[in-house]
Amino acid sequence: MLIKIRKASDIRPSEITSHSAYLERRRFLKAGVSAFAGLGLARAGIAEAAIQRGPGKLEAIPDIRETGYRPEESVTEYEHITTYNNFYEFGTDKSDPHRNAGKLNTRPWTIVVDGECEEPGEIGIEEILSGFAQEERIYRLRCVEAWSMVVPWVGVPLADLLKRFKPTSSARYVAFETLLDPKQMPGQRVPVLPWPYREGLRIDEATHPLSLIATGLYGEVLPNQNGAPLRLVVPWKYGFKSIKSIVRISFTRDEPEAAWNKQNPREYGFYSNVNPDVDHPRWSQKYHRVIGAGLFAGKEKTLPFNGYADEVADLYAGMDLRKYF
Ligand code: MTE
Repeated sequence: MLIKIRKASDIRPSEITSHSAYLERRRFLKAGVSAFAGLGLARAGIAEAAIQRGPGKLEAIPDIRETGYRPEESVTEYEHITTYNNFYEFGTDKSDPHRNAGKLNTRPWTIVVDGECEEPGEIGIEEILSGFAQEERIYRLRCVEAWSMVVPWVGVPLADLLKRFKPTSSARYVAFETLLDPKQMPGQRVPVLPWPYREGLRIDEATHPLSLIATGLYGEVLPNQNGAPLRLVVPWKYGFKSIKSIVRISFTRDEPEAAWNKQNPREYGFYSNVNPDVDHPRWSQKYHRVIGAGLFAGKEKTLPFNGYADEVADLYAGMDLRKYF
């Protein structure tokens, strides 16, 4: 498939899938998958079980504002987005988060915001859901492991949330931290990463209009395995920058620590912009596998900045992206 990237301004309102259309599509998919399972195909049984826990089971997010953020590719089906995950706090296998993350208690949930800002404080998930306009953002997600999805997120522009705490001119970076609680997150008992999971962005990246704090997907609150109740989404960077289940956001003067970068700086840079011209030391980044496309689908070409170059390339003008990978 030829991936033609359109900017928000190129999208006609009639092409944007609404929340009700998602749910309608879910009903259609459920019927379709049941028929598929009827043919005796084993995979479909798993998919159907996942769909039964899908939209209609989690709390719906009301008043989602439709936006023009939508790539041309088809949206990945709910059962793939919610059963093929990376969330090492719940295990390192792709199916572990879906099976194990139910243990995570996401209410009440508070984020501490501190560091270089005039009004440090706390904010709860309920206030983020009710006090900020919730937007629909359909973004490509490109994992550093060379697979991809298209996810219909719901969320709040990160810039809107950060503004509330009045960052000062010393705030050059924004650091994010996941909950540390090995009782709820058994994967944290295994030293596969330096816990808690941490990530960071430069302040201009964090306040870029594409950067999102996701509160939901497919019109409902986030399933735990996708980073409930709040996760970052930075669509032009490899997926590991999109930190899940955030409990702290700090404005910092210096480049903050990031989990994968700390674990293996040679393989995972701080910037981690999607870049088909810079291979991972152990594999090529030129192509990726589309999750849910089927066994016989070919790989797709990876685009610079995951197809968002028109929007974000200026952030890196003059930088050597081989050095700052
Ligand atoms: N955040 C935390 N806290 N722990 C993780 O293991 N994995 C990252 C990112 N955020 C991860 C995380 C990686 S490698 C990817 S590709 C994405 O989450 C996957 O998001 P998804 O499971 O919603 O597709």
